Amino acid sequence: MLSVVDLSFSYGEVQALRNISLDVPSATIVSVMGRNGVGKTTLMKNIVGTLRSTAGIIQLDGQSIEKKPAHQRVLAGIGYVPQGRMIFPKLTVEENLRVGLSGSLKRKLVPDEVLDLFPILRQMRDRMGGDLSGGQQQQLAIGRALVTDPKILILDEPTEGIQPNIIQQIGQVLTQLVEQRQMTILIVEQYLDFVREFCQHFYIMNRGEIVANAETEGLTQEIIREYLSV
Ligand SMILES: Nc1ncnc2c1ncn2[C@@H]1O[C@H](COP(=O)(O)OP(=O)(O)O)[C@@H](O)[C@H]1O
Ligand SMILES: [Mg+2]
Repeated sequence: MLSVVDLSFSYGEVQALRNISLDVPSATIVSVMGRNGVGKTTLMKNIVGTLRSTAGIIQLDGQSIEKKPAHQRVLAGIGYVPQGRMIFPKLTVEENLRVGLSGSLKRKLVPDEVLDLFPILRQMRDRMGGDLSGGQQQQLAIGRALVTDPKILILDEPTEGIQPNIIQQIGQVLTQLVEQRQMTILIVEQYLDFVREFCQHFYIMNRGEIVANAETEGLTQEIIREYLSV
């Protein structure tokens, strides 16, 4: 569904991604893991188009998108939940959700399904984004990425700093999206229990490269010791 082939990227002189290749099959949840600073966020930004790769191919359903600007990739079916959530604190929940719609031609209203997935957003519709808890803001960020009805949802560390009951809820919503709407999900995640419970496949990055990938059952203690533990 999403296929990245030999992608490289540099910040000026500093090469941050080297020959990254990865595949995210349709209707699965695939994780990208690795310590801080290895290039996970840089990879996600290259896929969504806020950074432009220096070399390589990014295909969505067989169509190359690596030359398209970010807003066209939204139209092509990419939804993005950035690291740190990036909620507008002085906009209401409703207004934050509408920001997501600006990327879409086909929709003018926040779809009911998004509010059904996260009932808290319906309850808090008129509250300021800045008044929400971290977990509620994360749900809002995911909701905002879903208003355009993407084919693939890309999330960058959605469980960072969030309490366990909300983490479970997020994992269940993602699973529901896959099972009921055949959504495809690529998720940067450091929390091992989340990966084991909700993801089918993992990739591990180290210093800008993919160094391991397997079905989630193959996430061994050796891999964890070598590439993930601090
Ligand atoms: N805007 C930037 N300019 C220069 N270097 C950057 C920039 N953003 C990130 N980097 C560097 O690129 C590397 C990868 O960063 P990042 O993709 O944020 O890693 P991760 O998400 O895995 O923590 C790091 O060494 C980081 O310092
Ligand atoms: Mg990051």
